[in-house]
Amino acid sequence: MKHKIIFMGFILFLLTAVVAFSDIEVERLDPSVFEKPHRPGAVFEHDGHNEMAGIEDCAVCHHVYEDKNLVTDESSEDSLCSECHFLKKTPENSIPLEVAYHKRCKTCHFEENKGPVLCGECHIKE
Ligand code: HEC
Ligand code: HEC
Ligand code: HEC
Ligand code: HEC
Repeated sequence: MKHKIIFMGFILFLLTAVVAFSDIEVERLDPSVFEKPHRPGAVFEHDGHNEMAGIEDCAVCHHVYEDKNLVTDESSEDSLCSECHFLKKTPENSIPLEVAYHKRCKTCHFEENKGPVLCGECHIKE
C-alpha cells in the first residue's frame, strides 16, 4: 500500500512537471542586434546554464580587453557583447559579433564534449 501511494505520488509529480515545463517559455538571447536575423534567438538559460556547467568566473564570457590584450582580473557583465563586437570586423575588434558568439559557445561545448553544437539545438524553432 505504502509503495503504491509513493508510486502514485511520483506519477503525479511527473505529470505536473511536464505541464509546468510546456508552459514555461524558454529563455533566449535577443538576436535583434543582427539587422535581419536568419534564425530564432539561441536558447540560453543564463543562470541555470552557468550553474549546470559549473562556470563561476563571469569573465569566461564577459571579458575585458585593453589594447587587444585580455585583462584577466576584470569582467564586463554591465556591457552587451554588441557594444564591443560589431556586425563586421573593425580595426578595434577583428571578431564580428556572430563569430564571437559561436566561438565562445561552441568551443567550450566541443572541448567539454557537453552542450549543443548543432544549429537547430541552439536556434530552436519558436
Ligand atoms: C551553442 C549554441 C549555438 C550553435 C550550436 C549555433 N549557434 Fe548560431 N548563434 C548562437 C548565438 C548565442 C548567437 C547570437 C545570439 C542570437 O542571435 O541568438 C548566434 C547567432 C547566429 C546568427 C546571427 C543572427 C541571425 O539569426 O542571423 C546566425 C546566422 C547563426 N547563429 C547561424 C547558425 C548556424 C547556421 C549554425 C550551425 C552551423 C549555428 N548558428 C549554430 C548560438 C549558436
Ligand atoms: C557562458 C557565458 C556567460 C557567463 C559565464 C556569464 N554570462 Fe552573463 N550573459 C551572457 C550573455 C551571452 C549575455 C547576453 C549579452 C548580450 O545580449 O549582449 C549575458 C547577459 C548578462 C547580463 C545582462 C547584460 C545587459 O546589459 O543586459 C548580466 C547583468 C550578466 N550577464 C551578468 C553575469 C554575471 C554576474 C555572471 C557571473 C556570475 C555572468 N553573467 C556569467 C553570457 C554569460
Ligand atoms: C569591453 C569590450 C568587449 C566586450 C563587452 C566583449 N568583448 Fe569579446 N573581445 C573584445 C576584444 C577587444 C577582443 C579581441 C579582438 C581582436 O583581437 O581584434 C575580443 C575577443 C573575443 C573573442 C575571441 C577571443 C576568445 O576569447 O576566444 C571571443 C570569442 C569573444 N570576444 C566573445 C565575446 C562574447 C560572447 C561577448 C559577450 C558575452 C564579448 N566577447 C564581450 C572585447 C569585448
Ligand atoms: C565554459 C564552457 C561553456 C560555455 C562558454 C558555454 N557553455 Fe553551454 N554548456 C556547457 C556545458 C558543460 C553544458 C552541459 C551541461 C550539462 O548538461 O551538464 C552546456 C549546455 C548548454 C545548453 C543545453 C542545456 C541548457 O541549458 O539548455 C545550451 C542550450 C547551451 N549550453 C548554450 C550555450 C550558449 C548559447 C553559450 C554562449 C552564449 C554557451 N552555452 C556557452 C558549457 C559552456
